[in-house]
Amino acid sequence: MQKSNTSPTPQRIIVAISGASGIRYALLLMRALRTIPDVEVHGIISPGAQAVIKHETQLKLSTISNAFHILHQPTNIAAAPASGSWSHNGMIVCPCSMASLAAIASGVGTNLIHRAADVCLKEGRPLILVPRETPLNEIHLRNMLRAHQAGATIMPPCPGFYHQPQTMDQLMWQFIGRILEQLHLPHNLYARWS
Ligand SMILES: Cc1cc2nc3c(=O)[nH]c(=O)nc-3n(C[C@H](O)[C@H](O)[C@H](O)COP(=O)(O)O)c2cc1C
Repeated sequence: MQKSNTSPTPQRIIVAISGASGIRYALLLMRALRTIPDVEVHGIISPGAQAVIKHETQLKLSTISNAFHILHQPTNIAAAPASGSWSHNGMIVCPCSMASLAAIASGVGTNLIHRAADVCLKEGRPLILVPRETPLNEIHLRNMLRAHQAGATIMPPCPGFYHQPQTMDQLMWQFIGRILEQLHLPHNLYARWS
């Protein structure tokens, strides 16, 4: 399914944070990516995500923005991730709101997150969506199926419990590890099943 685009060195990963609950997943994901040598993390934070960040964290937006190697503005539709000729190794929308899921599933590329996701699908590059909502209505479910059929990987934040987590972060690290595995990135975030 993946086309043989020239792989960039260092590896480039796009992390888009949209306005769903679960900002801590994005924070842990960025922490994990920053520990992997030769990975350049490109970030996009939607205005919706900025609102959720205020509700869910004590962090300043600049603290989160500075954790990326390169931050792109969601309104900058001319930024590198908007072009298929800019090569990268995959994009993760974490967390992914139902609004962003709908835009991605229907190919509406009006902001940089949606456009970059659309580019991933057309170029056959990995696109991981971490949709967060509950309960899910029929539209949400159909949009997930549509995105999956177009080539996205749908990973709702459903951590396992078989590693017997004692803290919330231990629970979440396991899920972050599962995301990195999808991108064939090395990690030691939890004891894998053996
Ligand atoms: C505190 C807060 C929590 C939210 N949680 C969710 C959520 O879990 N899932 C969701 O789909 N939308 C959630 N929303 C609504 C989205 O942020 C809203 O639909 C927004 O327009 C999404 O746009 P974006 O995807 O461009 O960020 C939440 C909003 C706020 C303010």
